[in-house]
Amino acid sequence: MGTRRDLVVLVSDGVSDYSRKLLEADGFIVKHITLLANPNQVRPTRFWGVYTKLKIFNMTTYRKVVYLDADTVVVKSIEDLFNCGKFCANLKHSERMNSGVMVVEPSETLFKDMMNKVDSLPSYTGGDQGFLNSYYAEFANSRVYDPNKPLTPEPETQRLSTLYNADVGLYLLANKWMVDEKELRVIHYTLGPLKPWDWWTAWLVKPVAVWQDVRQNLEESLPGTGGGKNPRDQLVVKILFILPFCMLLCGYYGSCFQTNKELLSMRTLCAFARQARYKYKSEEELPSYSTVGVASSSFGISNQKLSTGAHLKLPSYFGAIAVF
Ligand SMILES: *[C@@H]1O[C@H](CO)[C@@H](O)[C@H](O)[C@H]1NC(C)=O
Repeated sequence: MGTRRDLVVLVSDGVSDYSRKLLEADGFIVKHITLLANPNQVRPTRFWGVYTKLKIFNMTTYRKVVYLDADTVVVKSIEDLFNCGKFCANLKHSERMNSGVMVVEPSETLFKDMMNKVDSLPSYTGGDQGFLNSYYAEFANSRVYDPNKPLTPEPETQRLSTLYNADVGLYLLANKWMVDEKELRVIHYTLGPLKPWDWWTAWLVKPVAVWQDVRQNLEESLPGTGGGKNPRDQLVVKILFILPFCMLLCGYYGSCFQTNKELLSMRTLCAFARQARYKYKSEEELPSYSTVGVASSSFGISNQKLSTGAHLKLPSYFGAIAVF
């Protein structure tokens, strides 16, 4: 969104060199951090490393940090968040603070205090969000931050309007944003497995289209990354592209050689390929293998059907290519 501020990405072990290079090429400052252990015995498995997020309170080379989860997208300038106070975040349902978008003033004293309490304060989620809700126990009573009317003295905590952390769960409730859509600043793709980098989620969650539009408009040729192309993904795409043709050829040769007993194993393979083809047209019976004539005429029909099938299938492959 045209910001001139430092864009920092914190990466832990497990983020590939390729991804780091891509982030750097996109203009991010990539900072490596070590993981912070999750002290909770009872927690969702995927929360094993989330306490690491607390390290943003230790980024003391910055006076103020606007933190965004990786599953958020900024759709309008959020510069005014840098004027928010010591700690600002959103209050969601059940009077809980959401840690997906936060304004933080890093401080060694604050971070050390948090580290001292990590083992003793309860976490209702089993993750960092639950811990922060215990740490900022009075957060629900905070006043809403108004960029045009800063409060003096500056409160310890302030609430952000939904515009800065509009979660897609909220959208699904009414099938629309219940706030002024033109004023939206940050969309947060909260729903568990439905993450916007999985191309198929656009079918289920309408706001994913916003994310995919942003992605499609990114520069194609990034320096140092071979045009932003991942060689491994390219191979997968090639295989996906060639596979239908291989199956088609195989089906054709199978019907020509069916009298030859020596090609039995090949025919088994071909029969398998044909069955896969017929999965898409259950109304038709499997072709008779008795004569070449019948087989080749049924091949003609299936070829026609397959081409319509392929027509339906193609966009989904291309959807996948677009997201890689
Ligand atoms: C916090 O930041 C300081 C200064 O950069 C660093 O020396 C220290 O290792 C950090 N602590 C943790 C737990 O990452």
